[in-house]
Amino acid sequence: MRLLLASRNENKLRELRAALPEWEVELLDAPDEPAEDGETFLENARIKARHGRAHAAQGDWVAGEDSGIEVDALGGRPGVHSARWAEDGVARLLAELEDVEDRRVRYVCELVVVSPGGAEIAVRGELEGAVATAPRGDEGFGYDPIFLPLGESRTVAELGNGWKAQHSHRARAARALADALA
Ligand code: IMP
Repeated sequence: MRLLLASRNENKLRELRAALPEWEVELLDAPDEPAEDGETFLENARIKARHGRAHAAQGDWVAGEDSGIEVDALGGRPGVHSARWAEDGVARLLAELEDVEDRRVRYVCELVVVSPGGAEIAVRGELEGAVATAPRGDEGFGYDPIFLPLGESRTVAELGNGWKAQHSHRARAARALADALA
């Protein structure tokens, strides 16, 4: 079955492909992008999924994904604003957490999938961790160089794309999706 991801993000495509080996996952080629003005990851994922549905072929499944990080010491920020929070979110986060002891953080991924018939399934995946004091590693993307998963001494960028395919918030959401569809 073919699943079209309503996104232009190749990193998300790579991770969803790795986590959903039984699906043919492609990026959806839509002429425009909807305004991501939801107040939660779920709302934004739904906005992207419904916009994608309108531009996809009838027989295809469509997915909208929204994700980001929630930092406990910042009251859950940047949250839904993770992408537009700053040009360089990593530097801003390190600066805001300078001398802050509580470094707990979680990655959140909400995935909304719309079937060819229009039925919606929403699933969520989370990854708990701590914000490192300096960036390390060069795989993954975004905040991965400063994200230390709980129980790991290496950052997600050091653990790499193979690790992410098994353990990331996106991989967990994808597994929940596979379970929901089974
Ligand atoms: P979106 O593309 O609007 O969902 O924005 C996602 C934001 O969260 C971007 O700033 C990403 O850098 C960040 N983000 C989401 N998932 C990940 C991940 O797996 N690794 C690193 N950063 C991520």
